[in-house]
Amino acid sequence: MRGYLITFEGPDGAGKTTVINEIIKQLPQSLQERTLVTREPGGSKISENIRTIILDPENKEMDDRTEALLYAAQRSQHVSEVIRPALVAGKVVLSDRFIDSSLAYQGVGRNLGIEEVKQINDFGTGGLEPDLTIFLDLDPAVGLARIEKERAGQEDRLEQEKIDFHNKVYAGYRELLERYPDRIKKVDANLPIKDVAANSVKIIRKQLPDIFM
Ligand code: TYD
Repeated sequence: MRGYLITFEGPDGAGKTTVINEIIKQLPQSLQERTLVTREPGGSKISENIRTIILDPENKEMDDRTEALLYAAQRSQHVSEVIRPALVAGKVVLSDRFIDSSLAYQGVGRNLGIEEVKQINDFGTGGLEPDLTIFLDLDPAVGLARIEKERAGQEDRLEQEKIDFHNKVYAGYRELLERYPDRIKKVDANLPIKDVAANSVKIIRKQLPDIFM
């Protein structure tokens, strides 16, 4: 059985983590047993350590290129230690964020260029691409308002960025949707969680029918 990598993307506050948990519940039992949930930045010990450095609100002096390289570095470790072995073992890997976050946040949000950021990531991951990417589509202002409500005063370094940055990131995601229409599929994240999850499962069934066999 071959493995599959399905990634979840979207602006901050789109509810990816909650949606992924709900998706799992809606999958057939046999598939649940074959599924591995992971996240970025993080997913392994070293990558979680890098996550702490990247997201620490104290690290205000972090250079944009350093930030892009740290995201690529945590991904490289995550892929070699967790994702590739799982794919080899035939698992279905659901990752809360992956390369498209770097292309949108660092490539477009930080103006480093989608191509440039893709290159350092391909070096890190050996060019691993998701089989399918679900983009949880939400107005970034709505996402930030959700975060503000849930954890005001505890926002991480990226969440503390102004709305202009988050709007740029969103524009970056729209560019990626145009660039990879076969791989990235959009789901309306304004709907209740159960519906967002059900719509995501529908897309997975349509795009990757083999994993349900
Ligand atoms: P995430 O863990 O999804 O945030 P939370 O769990 O708090 O909702 O991601 C943390 C932040 O890192 C988020 O603002 C998006 C950002 N990010 C990038 O800028 N580039 C990347 O490559 C990744 C994976 C995340």
